[in-house]
Amino acid sequence: MNLSHFLADDLYNKDQITALLALAKDIKANPQQYQQTLSGKSVAMIFEKPSLRTHVSFDIGINKLGGHALYLGQQNGKLGERERVSDYAKNLSRWADVIVARVFEHEAIVELGNHASVPVINALCDKYHPCQALADFVTLSEQFADLSMLKLAYVGDGNNVSNSLMIMAATLGVDFTLVCPGGHGSDSVMIDKTKALAAQSGSNFTVTSNMDALNGIDVIYTDTWVSMGDEGKVDNYLDKFMPYQINHDVMATTGAKYVMHCQPAHLDEEITTALFDSEMCLAFEQAENRMWAQNAVLVSFFSNQ
Ligand code: NVA
Repeated sequence: MNLSHFLADDLYNKDQITALLALAKDIKANPQQYQQTLSGKSVAMIFEKPSLRTHVSFDIGINKLGGHALYLGQQNGKLGERERVSDYAKNLSRWADVIVARVFEHEAIVELGNHASVPVINALCDKYHPCQALADFVTLSEQFADLSMLKLAYVGDGNNVSNSLMIMAATLGVDFTLVCPGGHGSDSVMIDKTKALAAQSGSNFTVTSNMDALNGIDVIYTDTWVSMGDEGKVDNYLDKFMPYQINHDVMATTGAKYVMHCQPAHLDEEITTALFDSEMCLAFEQAENRMWAQNAVLVSFFSNQ
């Protein structure tokens, strides 16, 4: 597999995602075999927004592959303000071998991809979080031998994380239920994309605001009710979202085995502290797998298999 970029989940087919999942698990099991993959190579990492997991997992992951990571933080301001995004991409391509970018707007990632002559990885934008979804499916495949039997749900705000998760689920043929309060679901373009992919893979895709749809679900995923950049956009969000909190009662009523969260968790908002701290929560497995999943993407750029 030889990917040119890793920008948005809907750009990759089932075979490509399945190969990346297998590669991530192989790198995790045999890290020593990949110690030289990025030897002599540099990865420029642009962050327009804060990050713990993405920054650290890329930096340390790149180090484990023998490469060099360069962090470009917010001191350069919003992409496109000081100089054109296209020029940013062209400059970085002259020095770096890969560009990783966390940006406010998806269009900036597309622009970087269009003008960089090296691979670009989307490390979160307003529409997608593909590295997270890949890590989440590594995590799920460690817990469930046959993903085609899995019933996965996302509850809360329809956002970048839910978009990537549902698109990847539909691509892989995993049944998916999206439960969002009225007015906070995913946009219709994302829903239509997911419907088309689910029809192709033969999986079920349900969109609702009714928590009863969670009965019989294996895994419930949740994320913050207010994403970075959306602060202040929704008044009294707690009133609207509180009925969608994931807690021990929801786990018991639905029969769900695991809860997942990409973090940072807003404890006692979208998930209770007690549930987050429980054995049912896979959040730290997901966090670890961010590194292996991203390393799989990096390795895929430089392998001809
Ligand atoms: N939906 C969240 C994910 C954080 C990793 C956000 O965009 O802020």
